[in-house]
Amino acid sequence: MKKMIVGLLFMAALLSACEKQGRDEGMNRFVSDLMGKMTIEEKIGQLNLITPGGGIPTGSVVSTDVEEKIKAGNVGGIFGIYGPEKLRQAQKMAVEESRLGIPMLFGADVIHGYKTTYPIPLGLSASWDMDLIERTARMAAKEATADGIFWNFSPMVDISRDPRWGRVAEGAGEDAWLGSEIAKAMVHGYQGEDLTSPVTMMATVKHFALYGAPEGGRDYNRVDMSRYNMFNYYLPPFKAAIDAGVGSIMTSFNDVDGIPASGNRWLLTDLLRNKWGFRGFVVSDYTSVNEMIDHGMGDLQAVSALSLNAGLDMDMVGEGFLTTLKKSLEEGKVREADIDKACRRVLEAKYKLGLFDDPYRYFNDERPAIDILSAENRSLAREAATKSFVLLKNEKQVLPLQKQGTIALIGPLANDRNNMLGTWAPTGDPQLAVPIFEGMMNAPGRQAKILYAKGANISDDPEYAAKINVFGPRIMIDERSPEMMLREALSVATQADVVVAVVGEATEMSGESSSRSDITIPEPQKKLIRALKATGKPLVLVVMGGRPLAMEEEHELADAILFVWHPGVEAGNAIADVLFGAYNPSGELTMTFPRNVGQIPVYYNHRNTGRPNPGDTFQKFRSNYLDVPNSPLYPFGYGLSYTTFEYANLTLNSSQMAASGEISVSVEVTNSGQFDGEEVVQLYVRDMVASVTRPLRELKGFQKVFIEKGATRKVTFTIKPGDLAFYNYDLEFVAEPGEFQVFVGGHSTAELTGEFELLP
Ligand code: NOJ
Repeated sequence: MKKMIVGLLFMAALLSACEKQGRDEGMNRFVSDLMGKMTIEEKIGQLNLITPGGGIPTGSVVSTDVEEKIKAGNVGGIFGIYGPEKLRQAQKMAVEESRLGIPMLFGADVIHGYKTTYPIPLGLSASWDMDLIERTARMAAKEATADGIFWNFSPMVDISRDPRWGRVAEGAGEDAWLGSEIAKAMVHGYQGEDLTSPVTMMATVKHFALYGAPEGGRDYNRVDMSRYNMFNYYLPPFKAAIDAGVGSIMTSFNDVDGIPASGNRWLLTDLLRNKWGFRGFVVSDYTSVNEMIDHGMGDLQAVSALSLNAGLDMDMVGEGFLTTLKKSLEEGKVREADIDKACRRVLEAKYKLGLFDDPYRYFNDERPAIDILSAENRSLAREAATKSFVLLKNEKQVLPLQKQGTIALIGPLANDRNNMLGTWAPTGDPQLAVPIFEGMMNAPGRQAKILYAKGANISDDPEYAAKINVFGPRIMIDERSPEMMLREALSVATQADVVVAVVGEATEMSGESSSRSDITIPEPQKKLIRALKATGKPLVLVVMGGRPLAMEEEHELADAILFVWHPGVEAGNAIADVLFGAYNPSGELTMTFPRNVGQIPVYYNHRNTGRPNPGDTFQKFRSNYLDVPNSPLYPFGYGLSYTTFEYANLTLNSSQMAASGEISVSVEVTNSGQFDGEEVVQLYVRDMVASVTRPLRELKGFQKVFIEKGATRKVTFTIKPGDLAFYNYDLEFVAEPGEFQVFVGGHSTAELTGEFELLP
């Protein structure tokens, strides 16, 4: 029987491999035939990606003479325009008015939802819920394709250890292993099983590579990194997305080992194609080819040739390819074979999307009304938001809130729509977001009276506000004086049983080109928090942020802190769900929260020094600071629940692992508190002795489990030698025999531990 099943599985695999080969052959034939008819200008035209502007800009320049270029066959794809009618019109121009009628790609940045905005990606990652993440990506694909978009500039998988960098909001935090799981879930969610389906879209993994490690946390800045760090920490999520079948990849703005990514042959050809076997196409970031002029790599013709020769296929907005490649060909600076290669890859993407069968397959006028902002989608956005929140503190069980009595809801973000969606939601409409006040008022079963006061501005500084308000009003400076606002807030607070202050960052305080050198809560809000504390009322902080914030003072002042990122369109409802206990918070940090900026970079999987200080007490001649402990404010993997979980009986089924074997690690988790709840059970491994210095611990597994109050659940992980492998000094991926230590618990400083040996 077993043999028969194995035989059947083998046959099925063989059939699907044959089918794939057949499809590939069909595609090759089709593309070769088409390319046989193309002029060199038309081939170069396919490498040109433009944006006509008009909507919310995602860069500083826009394309011109769009119609003429489309008709001349000078455009391979467009991004930044939306809606079946508009896109059909544009596609018609390409199909009916250009010589060969090649359809165009239509792309967009659908980063955390299309119109139904769900939490910023960093928040979503804090759910540690891969099924949820995949479902949100699928929902985004369904909405975006309903509006005619079928190529997505997401997922962003840049690992970052620097919360000053505003784009941490768009990623999955600091860990390569978790980041890889999330990358796969998102690629599957967007692309589904069938790229030609009208409800799936081609994904783009970005930004290749190392974009999350700019010097000083300043966006677009230089990057300088060892190969050891690249291969072990920054590159794995890209590899995971590629293995999951991602259709395209976007280069980054920064240099990699001294050569900008868009012109880096080692990165785009040696590694990406030759080592990893990537078969999709590579698009530059917005004018990143042109920006190599400022990097000091030559004039537009030189940097365009450099990029093509490096392995870049498509040029976003800058038109360096369009305007110089032919000349470079004539001068022998590029080869026609390389232009052909790039053109082939772009045409293959179009083929895979089914555009040559039906260039209009994604344009259905009925779909927007049905598929966009449906009740089902909004309910998923609400679920995603509730699961993204991280409870950082909860003294005296001040949360969940009582549904009776009087609640003072105070703060510049407490009754606000403009900052709920978060950064990179260009297609979302802030006016559709549910403010927190509204969500609390509508909470089922609420009898508590809710009093509201703004209390403070997000920032009092008009110049700062102007920098933030580029895409619409985010920081609104009140006409009243700060003193008057504070007085009102205090009078509201003194009438209440509990104060809930909603504070933090405005939407564009994180995101692209929004780096901060000081990542504390802005001063006017700090003043408000101090004054509210002085009333003596129990103080709950609901903190919004697109990044980890340094909140040492707030941690001391508040009785409870719920970190809610930017929660998306269902913000108010989701926050009410959690504050009133309809949902017990289960989010855990995917990025370390520092005590202050001076600790950055501070991350959990750091290597040991020769003079470590594992404690928080200063020791002379040890690696520590005079003015701050080494430990962060909140470690990676940390997050509380309304209930408590206790871990016991860590057992390994063997003390030795054979070189091709595996071991299992189990632990018993008991819900010892008063609420049912979910816990992210995390497994960390430490390689005790190796040929290179290894981190003190690394995440190698997690399971999010629901446990009823009073119940105990056994959770088992399997570890295989591959999980112990790393890139060594020679960049070989190896598991070195020897001692390993495992840790299991609810965060990265878990203490329950066991040991085993990997045999040679
Ligand atoms: C620049 C950003 O870096 C990138 O992530 C985005 O996809 C493009 N602009 C297009 O909007």
